[in-house]
Amino acid sequence: MRIKNAVFLKSITDLRDGPDTTAPDFAFIGRSNVGKSSLINLLLGRKQLARISGKPGKTQTINFFLVNNAWHMVDLPGYGWAGVGKKKRQEWAGFVQEYLLKRERLYCLFILIDIRHEPQNIDLEFINWAGSNEIPFALVFTKSDKISKNKVTPAISRYEKRLREDWEILPEFFVTSALNHTGREEILSYIDTINSA
Ligand code: GTP
Ligand code: MG
Repeated sequence: MRIKNAVFLKSITDLRDGPDTTAPDFAFIGRSNVGKSSLINLLLGRKQLARISGKPGKTQTINFFLVNNAWHMVDLPGYGWAGVGKKKRQEWAGFVQEYLLKRERLYCLFILIDIRHEPQNIDLEFINWAGSNEIPFALVFTKSDKISKNKVTPAISRYEKRLREDWEILPEFFVTSALNHTGREEILSYIDTINSA
């Protein structure tokens, strides 16, 4: 898929303020600092459309981008960062959860996982939550440039093995690096396939 244009639409903290169109949403979530905003920029081919930061907790609102005048890319705040106060965390969890459960045109939620880490409870719990709530999702292993090439497949196998303990069917998964620009075509064609179905 070619990205012909991508524009920032709006930031919201209340589902009722979401763009009121028939365009489907493709949303990105994962722990703070996992690389959600970087991945969105990689996919859209823009350096700074979504704001990136070395400091976790950069994205604090639900941000909608309209792509090719046809679909939304949605940048979500990260989960599981202890650096923001409890009140803020609950506030984010509330509106993000509401978005995930109630947004009618959420066609796919990409759950991002840092490929360097062993399966973490916080991610597994989130995956299980999404699965039990029948949210369509796929996994994206980010920052693959940070491990050597021969460690990529074992890392994913380990993850799959862990997921098999809870699930019979495994989700689709992708491996990306915003630094090396890998995984872009694969994710874009997956989005294309869903949009054309
Ligand atoms: P929050 O909005 O705070 O939840 O973070 P986020 O998940 O949007 O992460 P963001 O894209 O802001 O990236 C966090 C940090 O990781 C930044 O310093 C990025 O440059 C870095 N980063 C993101 N993706 C990659 C990657 O694929 N490879 C490497 N080496 N660094 C990355
Ligand atoms: Mg972000």
